[in-house]
Parts: sequence; C-alpha cells; structure tokens
Amino acid sequence: MSSGIRVQKGLEGVYVTESAISFIDLERGALYYSGYDVRELVERSRYEEIVFLLLNRRLPTAKEYDAHVRELVSNMRLGGDHLDVIRSFVSKMDPLSILATLMVIEGSGKQGGDPSDTSSAVRAVSRMGAFFSTIVRLKLGGDYIPPRSDLGFVENMLYMIRGEPPTSEEAAILDDLLILHAEHGIPASTFACLVAASTLSDLFSSVAAGILALKGPLHGGASEASYKQALEIGDPARVPEWVEEALRSKRKIMGFGHRVYKTYDPRALIVKEIIRRLEDRLSQEGKMLLRVTQALEEYGEKKLANRGIYPNVDLWTPIVYRALGLPEDTFTPLFAVSRTAGWAAHILEYWTDNKLIRPLHLYTGDKLKQYVPIELRSGS
Ligand code: CMC
Repeated sequence: MSSGIRVQKGLEGVYVTESAISFIDLERGALYYSGYDVRELVERSRYEEIVFLLLNRRLPTAKEYDAHVRELVSNMRLGGDHLDVIRSFVSKMDPLSILATLMVIEGSGKQGGDPSDTSSAVRAVSRMGAFFSTIVRLKLGGDYIPPRSDLGFVENMLYMIRGEPPTSEEAAILDDLLILHAEHGIPASTFACLVAASTLSDLFSSVAAGILALKGPLHGGASEASYKQALEIGDPARVPEWVEEALRSKRKIMGFGHRVYKTYDPRALIVKEIIRRLEDRLSQEGKMLLRVTQALEEYGEKKLANRGIYPNVDLWTPIVYRALGLPEDTFTPLFAVSRTAGWAAHILEYWTDNKLIRPLHLYTGDKLKQYVPIELRSGS
C-alpha cells in the first residue's frame, strides 16, 4: 500500500486484549485454563468446576462447588415461552440458530457492563445446557423433561435428552468433551462476544453473537463438516485418492489446520484417548468413521505437516458425538454449550476495563466523484 498502512487480514498475530483466563503453550503443545493443564482437568475435574474456575480464576472449595452445581441445575428449568420457541422451530430451523434465538430472548431488556455479574454468566451456561438438551430431545421425538435436583449439570444434560439418568461412563465422556471445549483464547466466536460486549450490550446477547460466529465450517462448524467428509470418503482405502483430489482442487480438508497451532492440536490427543475408552462399543458407523479418520490423519499429515498444517480437535470429535447418539447438526450446538463458560468469562473480564472495539478499514474506493442526477445516468 502506498500509504504505508499495513492491513492485518483476519487480525492474524494481533493481540486485542490482555487475559488471565487461558494460555496456549505452543512450545509444549499444551492448553491451560487459569494455570491448570487442561489434560489434568479432563482427568481429575468436572465441567461444573471448570465453569467456576473460568469465571473466578480459582477452583471452588467443596462447599462452593455444591452451591455452584445447585445454581447451575436450578437454572436449567425451562418456562413456557422458551418451550414454545423450541416446539415451533425444532423441525424448521437448525439447532444452532434456535440456540442463538433463545439466547437473544434471554437477553431481552437486560443491561450489560458489570464485571462482577457471575450470576448471569452461570445462568447463561445453565440455560444453554437446558436449551441444547431440550432441542435434541424434541428433535428425536420426545417432549420436555425438567431437570432433576439430585443430578449434576452434565448428568442433567443427558437426562433431559433421554428421560433416564446416564451411566457414569456416559456422563464422564460428555464431561470430558465439555471441559475440552470450554475455553480457547480469542477465536472468532469469542472475539464476536467481545465486540458485542464492548458496546455494553448484555451478557446473553453477547453470547448470542458468539454462537452465530461459531456456525461456519472454519470454526465451530468444522466438526459437522469433518463428519460429512468422513461419510463422503466412506472407506479408508479411498483416503489417498480423496486427499490428492482435495489438494489438487484447493479444497480444504476439514479437521486439519489451525490459526494458532502449527503443531498437533493437544485437544485432538485427548479426544483420541476418549475414543480409545469407547472403541469396543462403537456402532458400525462409528467403526467406519474411526478407520477413515485414522487413515485420513496418517495420509493428511504426510501431505500437510511440512506446511505446519496438522490434525485439529474436529477431525476426531464426530466419532465421540455420534457415540453419544447426537445428530450431526447438534455437534456445533454442543460446542456452543461448553464454550459459553469461556465466552462469559471473557465478557466479564473485558468489562473490568471496557473499551469499545472499533477498528478501521483502509479505504480503496474512488474519491471526490461528481454526483449525476438519476435522469441523466446512462449505462448499466
Ligand atoms: N486443508 C488444506 N489446506 C489448508 C488447510 C486444510 N485444512 N488449512 C489451511 N490450508 C492451507 C490453505 O489452503 C492456504 O494455502 P495457500 O497458502 O496455498 O493458499 C494456507 O494453508 C493458509 O490457510 P489459511 O486458511 O489462510 O490459514 P488460517 O490460519 O486462516 O487457517 C483455518 C486456519 C482453521 C481456517 C484452516 O486451517 C482451515 O480452514 N481448516 C479447516 C477447517 C477446520 O478444521 N477448522 C477447525 C479449526 S479447530 C476448531 C476451532 O477452533 O474452531
């Protein structure tokens, strides 16, 4: 540019805020939530604790934890208006759009800007969990089931889908997935939350902005796209030919590449461990997905690793989502439930020193054009 101004497309490499919520250690290939390695949190903690950790930057005491779980679960009870929306749209709209609509309703008339408003943050997580489970339940032909006060948030998510409490193993798998997706710095969706929150919009509307930014296949929609890709490939033997054709036609391989990681995504390693735990119980489809994904990872890495393009978490998550019985269009909504904790934490943190987000564009159009009245204009 002759002006000397450099446009940073995609804000690549740009720091937009300071944050104490999470840290991606590229050298160690590790992700930390408030200082704790996410691998250890997946092994030892529960998602409810992680919500507390992200919002308060410390783990709860046993007493705080019990009160926090009670608050999460009590907010999962849905009223008539929300149920009317879900019933009206469940067969007409995709679940992520319904989730965003419900969050917009939740935010109606509310104010934002209070960095200490953890109760709205906890409520946002609870509501998202209950909305998600009710959408899935109605999609599968059932009707709303209220949460049970003797179950935790994660167990209730499965209970509200199925009408019976999950086994401890199923609850543990969902718990691990939720922890793993709870927070990841400032990807597009979190930035969208911050853009909305920086105007002092309310927390629920700011979360709705994040939900909508999660939709596309370059970000949260990648898991569904990666599932469809594995179905399209269908057979591990077809992988080399399929990858070569994708690269020839400049088609991106879903579940590969990341703006920040230029090495193997540490979250993908953890999802692979979860898959190992449920491998014996995979359906026919699950076994096919596993074989195709293994072949795709191996061949894709051979072709792309030299350019810093490695498998990411979304190459592997579809296998776990399907093992939990989730329809493909609910993969991204589940990601949104989990990430609500991280989004809300970033929104509250940003409000401690709020600054309206208002970047610039470098104008490249014409200047000083002469106005021609409509009756004198010619041409197309
Ligand atoms: N398959 C093939 N080529 C790729 C891929 C891929 N998955 N990812 C990047 N490239 C190539 C791309 O074609 C481009 O090549 P060239 O320089 O020849 O034009 C180069 O690498 C740079 O790509 P980019 O898209 O400009 O780079 P980015 O930093 O914006 O990429 C990304 C990040 C996630 C958008 C990209 O890797 C991608 O589209 N991946 C597939 C979608 C995906 O799996 N997304 C989930 C990300 S992890 C979960 C989450 O956080 O949401």
